[in-house]
Amino acid sequence: MAASFGVCRLRFRGLGGFDRFCLRFEPQTQGRFTSTTAAIKAQTENTTAQAAKESKTFQAIQEERREQAERSVLISCPPKINENKFLDYLSKHGTINKHFFYNSYGAYAVVEFSNRESIGSLKESTNIPTVEHEAAVPFKSRLLSLKWPGSQSSNYPMPKFKNQSPPSINEITQRLSEKDSIDEQLQCLTEALQLTEENVSLRFLVCSLLQDIAGAYFPECIIRPFGSTVNSFGKLGCDVDMILDLDGIYATSQKKGSGLSLEYHVKRAASERAVTQSILSVIGKCVDQFGPGCVGVQNILQARCPLVRFAHQPSGFQCDLTANNRVAMKSSELLFLYGQLDPRVRHLVFSVRCWARAHSITSSIPGAWITNFSITVMVVFFLQQRNPVLFPGPSDKCVIEGNDCTIVSDLSKITLQHNTDTSEKLLQEFFEFYGSFPFNKASINIRKGKEQTKPETTALYIQNPFETTLNISKNVNGTQLERFVALCRESAWLLQQKETLNRSSVSPWGFAALLLPSVTSGAGVKSRRKRKQEPASSRIKNLLDSLKIKGGETVAKKGSAKSSR
Ligand code: GTP
Ligand code: MG
Repeated sequence: MAASFGVCRLRFRGLGGFDRFCLRFEPQTQGRFTSTTAAIKAQTENTTAQAAKESKTFQAIQEERREQAERSVLISCPPKINENKFLDYLSKHGTINKHFFYNSYGAYAVVEFSNRESIGSLKESTNIPTVEHEAAVPFKSRLLSLKWPGSQSSNYPMPKFKNQSPPSINEITQRLSEKDSIDEQLQCLTEALQLTEENVSLRFLVCSLLQDIAGAYFPECIIRPFGSTVNSFGKLGCDVDMILDLDGIYATSQKKGSGLSLEYHVKRAASERAVTQSILSVIGKCVDQFGPGCVGVQNILQARCPLVRFAHQPSGFQCDLTANNRVAMKSSELLFLYGQLDPRVRHLVFSVRCWARAHSITSSIPGAWITNFSITVMVVFFLQQRNPVLFPGPSDKCVIEGNDCTIVSDLSKITLQHNTDTSEKLLQEFFEFYGSFPFNKASINIRKGKEQTKPETTALYIQNPFETTLNISKNVNGTQLERFVALCRESAWLLQQKETLNRSSVSPWGFAALLLPSVTSGAGVKSRRKRKQEPASSRIKNLLDSLKIKGGETVAKKGSAKSSR
């Protein structure tokens, strides 16, 4: 079947497109602040230097960000603030590397110091508030409130607030329609939706604040973000997935050979899962009772992957804290590597994810929908057909809980073949590919880069890249899959129409036209019923006519997913 499609080989363009994705703070400003204005200027200039940063491994990037977060504080500020005075006040505790302001039901500042000692100094001079008619839990976190006595002069310029929310679909549609080509649209979409430098910093800071709570019980623990926060496919507004990493506890400095040894006396539980559940339930309780700004804490401990879910109000993030979930971190690294191979990978993933959300193929509510993670894996699978791009090397051998998690984390070892397809062509082929994929019998496997026989009868089978006996899309039902297939076909068709392709200043065109409400998403019973009641628009009529006429050459040629079931 795959033979009827264009071969999608990705060209590895050195690390040309890489720089944009290696998120780092600007280099440190040297010396203690004497002039705040000079410091702000230095920060601006350093942004240019950032463009020249060298590529780093996934682990190195995460480690650097984590370390930066440990030197940072989050400060709730009054709505009007004299930025210079604010920075001068804080720089009494040490050099400030970087800061930014944002709005989330109030103004907040993230301030990163050069040294961790500054945090200690700052905390020493911070008071526990006295609250009237209530009592305060005296937990000294790095979430602080700035008290500014008296009224502030409004002559000072307001600090610039960094945006933390994605643009609406309407805004996106408008921005895209102003572009000159579909390739430009896909790039513009990625840039508009991707996590910003500041947003990623805030995510790592929230993990670090959580680590302070968990660290009361397990001082060696690390709370690491995973999922779309770090896999390079995160969209502004996505949740923060966190892992409580307890590996540091097992590292011991005890020297062998003395004959004697000591062990900790520990409680025992029936299984690793039971230990995870017990730790998460206690930490969930602490987050609920002591975690400033953490609200709506839910312990979801019976899930396959037990988790604590809560909202972190000051950042506006929805957080999922899991433990003992190292395989998921490896999946994040694998996706990150794919995202770095070529800018087209991210353009395609962002576009398909946006398209899927616009048509309610994905949802923020758990259910039978296809997830963003599955969509990303589907894009990767489509791109790697007939050309597996990751070749495990012996030096990268990695086994986690019995699963072979070997991947090449050194990008220089990855060989990609020449391919000059435009993003537009890849998008068109993506829709054609999945508009006729034999979902009834084949499964998607990105470790092998090939379709495999489906081992069970679930509607959609996407093999978990590392826990190979698991299906990451087990939740998807036949109706949702049919909607996906129908929308793929409709979008493939739309991308061949003159009205879609011709640049228009009056109506959405190109990719923007694909975000308009669907006319054939009626694979689901409900939509079909709705369609019967509505008069057929000319768009529907054209589409149906086209499918009839083109049946032999466009869609049916490649085999209908429905008929092949
Ligand atoms: P968004 O949050 O929707 O932007 O994408 P995400 O990739 O972060 O997805 P999600 O928050 O749902 O899940 C976080 C991570 O958990 C994913 O990136 C995967 O690594 C992992 N994950 C999600 N769903 C599954 C699943 O069904 N099976 C397994 N094994 N891992 C999953
Ligand atoms: Mg997520």
